[in-house]
Amino acid sequence: MYKWVISLAFYSIFILVFQVVYLASAADHYTRADFPADFIFGSATSAYQYEGAAFEDGRTPTIWDTYVHSANNNGATGDVTCDGYHKYKGDVKLMSETGLEALRFSISWSRLIPNGRGPVNPKGLQYYNNFIDELIKHGIQPHVTLYHVDLPQALEDEYGGWLSRKIVKDFRAYADVCFREFGDRVLYWTSINEANAAAIAGYEYGFIAPGHFPSSKVSSRNQTYVVGHNFLLAHSAIAKLYKNKYKATQKGYVGINIYAWGSVPHTNTREDIIATQRANDFFIGWLIDPLFFGDYPETVKMNAQTRIPAFTEYESKQVKGSVDFIGVNHYLTVSIMDRPITSDIITRGFDADKALWIIFDQGQPAPGEYPVMPSGLYGVLEYLKQTYGNPPIYIHENGQMTRRNGTLMDTSRVKYMHAYIGSMLDAMRNGSNTKGYFVWTFLDCLEILDGYESAFGLYYVDLDDKELKRYQKLSGKWYSNFLKGGNVISEPSKNAPFHLRSGFSQ
Ligand code: BGC
Repeated sequence: MYKWVISLAFYSIFILVFQVVYLASAADHYTRADFPADFIFGSATSAYQYEGAAFEDGRTPTIWDTYVHSANNNGATGDVTCDGYHKYKGDVKLMSETGLEALRFSISWSRLIPNGRGPVNPKGLQYYNNFIDELIKHGIQPHVTLYHVDLPQALEDEYGGWLSRKIVKDFRAYADVCFREFGDRVLYWTSINEANAAAIAGYEYGFIAPGHFPSSKVSSRNQTYVVGHNFLLAHSAIAKLYKNKYKATQKGYVGINIYAWGSVPHTNTREDIIATQRANDFFIGWLIDPLFFGDYPETVKMNAQTRIPAFTEYESKQVKGSVDFIGVNHYLTVSIMDRPITSDIITRGFDADKALWIIFDQGQPAPGEYPVMPSGLYGVLEYLKQTYGNPPIYIHENGQMTRRNGTLMDTSRVKYMHAYIGSMLDAMRNGSNTKGYFVWTFLDCLEILDGYESAFGLYYVDLDDKELKRYQKLSGKWYSNFLKGGNVISEPSKNAPFHLRSGFSQ
């Protein structure tokens, strides 16, 4: 009995020491100075979600316009949204006052080249030149994404958009215009936002543009793989173009972006552990392996059989080594459970090929908020480091979803950002080559999944005000304080000095 008490006490002390050591090693108190000076902190937006002016100055519709105008989405469109097309000067001033070092934004292909191919629209060109100049004037580094879910509708109508290899030529010509016109000021280029999620959500589940799903007229079976393949071919074509024609003079970088959630096994069984590796192969390896190794992961090829296109030798060579960095969008951690393959090969698409269940069971956040699971981000950065030889990583999006209810006291967003930036610092201290972090998003804007129901912004945009006035949230203040060198705390004071409009809840 005596011995038992001693060993229990010893065990408790061990657990306590372990916890203290673990907590001490997880970055909780940090400042901007804990990150390398050339590390870049910014925020992110995308053209369709921010610009508005959807029918102005020669811009033509995209698949995203078409999708939100036809889907049952309570009339939420990007026709106006934050009206960044007209209000960008004020916004850049706000960004500068906030202390942003960089802005990640996307160019609207159909604003620059109406209908996706042919002559450049002078007004579109002027807008992006002005916007980039304004950022630079304020010392904010522009990081440009070329494609963020907004394919010119004309190309979708003409040949099925990303489903056709014809897209590669048009995307290359569009990128050529961007490199030529903006490359004297833009050094960081991302070809495609969330290449994996854009293919899965757009062509398998149909909950983002162009909204293909199995029961729709266009069968989605295999489309996800075809689109993923064409994303890689288009990406590598523009990377090659940049390398051959622009790199020597402009000295910039070309990368691709993926959505990466943290994946943990649902149980400690061998099956779930293997299924978790399979999840990483399907969600990350599917589009990142070819960029480093020239081919899809074995598991993906084995399960997808002839549904996934095979690389020719030429394609494989062009794709391999075509990234200078990987952009990562991270929001959530999920747990993975094995799901044995059944014999319904004929009806199988990308989802069934994965042979696993994805379980969203992490934590108990308030309704509509993301659970704070920073270890998920640490895990993703560690995984990329170990699997791909520690390539440069930019966290292009990370942020907390809340309801768009007009409160400026977004304490859950502050907790989320504090934890995730700290976790990124932990990963960097463990060797991860992460070089930048962008909060999604600067202003509450059109959200991809639910229009104006949810919000991720550091600033609230009052949609009832005809001027669409912007108001800083607590998170904006917290981030600004951090960027300006202040100490960060995880529990923000409820009494933080704020100018609140009447009607806002605190
Ligand atoms: C997308 C953004 C979106 C954000 C928040 C990302 O998947 O790139 O367009 O608004 O998530 O949902």
